[in-house]
Amino acid sequence: MRILILGGTGEARELAAALVAAGTDVLSSLAGRVRDPRLPEGPVRIGGFGGADGLAAFLEAEGITAVVDATHPFAVGITCNAAAGAAVAGVPLLVLCRPGWEADPSWQAVADIGQAAAAIRDWPGRAVFLTTGRRDLAVFAADDRHDFLVRTVDPPDGPVPRRMTLLLDRGPYTAEGETALMREHGIGLLVSKDSGGPMTAAKLQAAQDLGVHVVMVQRPPLLEGSIVVATVPEAVRWVERQPG
Ligand SMILES: NC(=O)c1ccc[n+]([C@@H]2O[C@H](COP(=O)([O-])OP(=O)(O)OC[C@H]3O[C@@H](n4cnc5c(N)ncnc54)[C@H](OP(=O)(O)O)[C@@H]3O)[C@@H](O)[C@H]2O)c1
Repeated sequence: MRILILGGTGEARELAAALVAAGTDVLSSLAGRVRDPRLPEGPVRIGGFGGADGLAAFLEAEGITAVVDATHPFAVGITCNAAAGAAVAGVPLLVLCRPGWEADPSWQAVADIGQAAAAIRDWPGRAVFLTTGRRDLAVFAADDRHDFLVRTVDPPDGPVPRRMTLLLDRGPYTAEGETALMREHGIGLLVSKDSGGPMTAAKLQAAQDLGVHVVMVQRPPLLEGSIVVATVPEAVRWVERQPG
């Protein structure tokens, strides 16, 4: 048995650690987007595969017997490629996808990042906290009515809002820290993706405590026919059931 974990998440690192501890032959894959990534335990390869066909060729060349797609719920491209590539290579695929956050009725749900930008365009307040990632900043670049506090792991390399304060940081965060940050910047509106998980959930508690309006970008749908689990122990059990 040789397992490929498509990673870039805390769950992917937890799964790699569990499989390494169990003596399973595992290889983790990262996209290479982050300059100083948190590396999983065990062997790691970094960089794209060259689409679904490239991934299929990689699976065959590396003798991979099963794939766990533990990428971020918003990483749609690699998830589609994993489904197509694993099917071409005839390798079983599991999607490990953490649940979204429990929706608060006060949140404004939007379908995608473009709708989030549209939702804040007419918002009469001033300070917006953007936590949707550096690659989604371009859609806010035309907005010169608001002050944006932008938090990303690495500096943005594309268009950004003109009135922007940039904070380079990564979770986990605490509710106290998030509350202090939002107070300091007079935040009235928070934009978040429904990433789920505990690493970045504290901002939602802080927003509720401070009466900050939340615009929540909904998740892209899972691919039909996918085998999906929500937790690392379930993924470990699925791996254990694989032949070889
Ligand atoms: N999107 C988010 O909000 C977000 C948040 C936190 C972490 N991440 C992590 O960051 C990575 C990139 O996310 P994204 O949204 O940019 O991905 P994406 O748009 O779904 O994928 C774009 C391309 O990046 C390469 N890629 C992505 N993940 C890879 C992996 N784990 N190993 C090897 N190649 C990978 C693939 O290139 P090829 O076609 O050349 O194979 C893929 O086609 C993912 O691994 C994800 O787990 C994403």
